[in-house]
Amino acid sequence: MSVAVETKALTPPDIAASKGKDPVVCLTAYTTPVAQLVDRYCDVVLVGDSVGMVLHGLPSTLGVTLDMMIMHGKAVRRGLERALMVVDMPFGSYEEGPEQAFRNGARLMAETGCAAVKLEGGESVAETIRFLTARGIPIMAHVGLTPQSVNVFGGYKVQGRGGDGDRIFRDAIAVAEAGAFSIVLEKVTEPLARRITERATIPTIGVGASDACDGQILVIDDILGMFTGFRPKFVKRYAELGSAAEAAIAAYAADVREGRFPAAEHLFADAPKAGDVP
Ligand code: KIV
Repeated sequence: MSVAVETKALTPPDIAASKGKDPVVCLTAYTTPVAQLVDRYCDVVLVGDSVGMVLHGLPSTLGVTLDMMIMHGKAVRRGLERALMVVDMPFGSYEEGPEQAFRNGARLMAETGCAAVKLEGGESVAETIRFLTARGIPIMAHVGLTPQSVNVFGGYKVQGRGGDGDRIFRDAIAVAEAGAFSIVLEKVTEPLARRITERATIPTIGVGASDACDGQILVIDDILGMFTGFRPKFVKRYAELGSAAEAAIAAYAADVREGRFPAAEHLFADAPKAGDVP
């Protein structure tokens, strides 16, 4: 999808209709100022549960709560005009079954103003996806490496190698047939992502998947060089803001220690001078 000039917000059906057309550009965001930046260039903004690792210092996404997603979702909502906002359902908020998933998905939508939620899993969550979409909750699905199952996989491993590709293929088709409007394919082999994209009737959004996917998503802190915990092969760095920020902080600390800050222009006289803020 090209960067559009219209201000109408994109909807899940708009994204579903982009299958096989212009690439769907997606990034994560967790705060208002970053959402404002991303909104201008992206079709979908995901308030991902990756927030737990990149902003809260958690070792995985497993400790992320519904309240955290609601707080970050509200902040992102205030920064968006055009992009479709999707919020992740955190670990433990939907796996018990359709009723639990509906209760928590509805809360995410009502309290954050998002237009859709994302949940992880394939055939095992197909019934839940059918239940939620029939009741007004659009679903972005997520198959392949599903980080909330990191302990089952034994690490953040490439999925779909060996005989496992057919299972992931069936997962993708199951969530599409259940009514999801798009599917994230994470860290799967390239031929498998291509095969799913050719067969699925809804857009595939790749993250470490294939250039054949209908769209791409990355974590904003990864592309900006702000998250240095680890760096997956599928991340492309577009800036080194982490090291730029460190240099700025070091310069400030040195200025304070050596008496260069604050300088006269940062201080207030008894009577205001021309150009002073009140
Ligand atoms: O939580 C997240 O940021 C995600 C994306 C990487 C797809 O699920």
